Amino acid sequence: MSEFSLTRTTTPTSEAARKAALADPGFGRYYVDHQVVVDYIEGDGWQEPRVIPMSDWALHPAAAVLHYGQEIFEGLKAYRRDDDSIWLFRPDRNAARFVHSAERMAMAPLPEQLFLDSVTELVKLEKDWVPVSENEQSLYIRPFMIASEPYLGVREANTYRFAVIATPAGPYYSEPVKLWITPNYTRAAPGGTGTAKCGGNYASSLIATREAAANGCGQVLWTDGAERKWVEECGTMNIMFVTADGELLTPGLGSILAGVTRESILTLASEHGLKPVERPITIDEVLDGVASGQIPEVFACGTAAVVTPITGFNSPDRGVQQVGDGQPGVKTREIRQHLVDIQYGRADDLFGWLRQV
Ligand code: COI
Repeated sequence: MSEFSLTRTTTPTSEAARKAALADPGFGRYYVDHQVVVDYIEGDGWQEPRVIPMSDWALHPAAAVLHYGQEIFEGLKAYRRDDDSIWLFRPDRNAARFVHSAERMAMAPLPEQLFLDSVTELVKLEKDWVPVSENEQSLYIRPFMIASEPYLGVREANTYRFAVIATPAGPYYSEPVKLWITPNYTRAAPGGTGTAKCGGNYASSLIATREAAANGCGQVLWTDGAERKWVEECGTMNIMFVTADGELLTPGLGSILAGVTRESILTLASEHGLKPVERPITIDEVLDGVASGQIPEVFACGTAAVVTPITGFNSPDRGVQQVGDGQPGVKTREIRQHLVDIQYGRADDLFGWLRQV
């Protein structure tokens, strides 16, 4: 276990203000009172891990992250059980993906144990900020890393800052989502950064989200960057299709983000009478399947969004199409409930996914 120095905030949130925040947290509206910060210096390695008050940082205006976007992040949640114990869901998967993202962005890989210790340290200190399980609330934890070196040449930075912040969160989407099949934008290309959780992937998605909204949809369905034919993911989430013959179909890994929720749901599929299948899927197969009833249910999944039903599509070629009867499907609801029950300790954790803080 790494040793963290602690500088306590002199202006902690009052209990009344925290209670008000936890009563209706939204997502990313309120932050816990401290943050973890660990700096990296080339040649010297990772410096002393520190817990400091939640406050602004001083960053040189030439810091490489501000110019060339060398930045990565993760998202995971802490859940409070009815007995008040607090648990993290598969934090080891986030730690491993963080290393993968760092390598793709030519950043210093953070030791996985330091990632885990930093998350645990912050959640322990801020345990009062973990909401009760009602309304599926949790503490959303955001570890991230930036290139902090002030230097305007384009090269790998010599200094990085890793930090962890956290925000109490309710459901990211309060309603089912419709997807816009954009003819204009792609998220990832072969050899690109699609498998890394880096800020640039999200920045470049915003214009397509704007286009989706203009076409009556909450999110974008991304197709591949080469042929615009293969389904990849949607919005900031992975996508899954329930087929009439009992498959849980999802695009294989390649240029998509290897979602922890995606991997977990594929593992649970058989308990819901579904065979998990990872393979390339064309957009025509999806839209034909939705039209014929061969694909009666579609859902998106991710840490923030958990499992979000997809109830319709819109595209320039084929117009508006409803999925099933336009309501969240039975398997979608079942799988969502199962996952959430495991996370809150109400269902057996057969795979040892939960880690107590
Ligand atoms: C998550 O599910 O943790 C995500 O990364 C989505 C986030 C960008 C809101």
